Amino acid sequence: MSHRNIILIGPMGSGKSTIGNIIANRLHREFKDSDHFIEKRTGVDIARIFDIEGEHGFRERESDALNELLSQNNRVIATGGGSVLRPQNQQLLKQKGFIIFLDTSVAQQLRRLARDKKRPLLQTENPRERLEAMFVERHPIYLDLADLAVKTDKRVARRLAADIINQLPENLK
Ligand code: S3P
Repeated sequence: MSHRNIILIGPMGSGKSTIGNIIANRLHREFKDSDHFIEKRTGVDIARIFDIEGEHGFRERESDALNELLSQNNRVIATGGGSVLRPQNQQLLKQKGFIIFLDTSVAQQLRRLARDKKRPLLQTENPRERLEAMFVERHPIYLDLADLAVKTDKRVARRLAADIINQLPENLK
């Protein structure tokens, strides 16, 4: 039977890949991670793409990746934190899946990403300020897109994933 996709959105460090993987395993679906897909496709990591092509080049690749990943059903897909910025991506996400927002505080992001070197947008003097600015811009978009929003702070991944599965509409399980 063919099921709608399940799409995870939320900021960096919200656990989209970890939670997505668990949900996919439990529901016997294929798991795809947008950043990972782009890295495999290009043969270089996300930081290198930002270096060479800038954020605009990365966003182009991200839109292409989402189009491709969402051209099939039955998947669990972890998006990149900024994939909700473009209106065309927002439309696509809404059309192609059930959207789960992992709602995470900046404090938790900082705990998880303190020593991160892989995320170009955080390689700045003041990561907290950067994360706060992104929160202000993106949080309303995440909330608006979400079919289901869950708070992730201080929650163990397995429990959170089980909780999310419980809250899914029956026709997605
Ligand atoms: C970004 C989030 C990253 C990655 C890139 C840009 C963002 O993905 O796509 O570094 O704009 O928030 P994660 O959310 O998986 O960290």
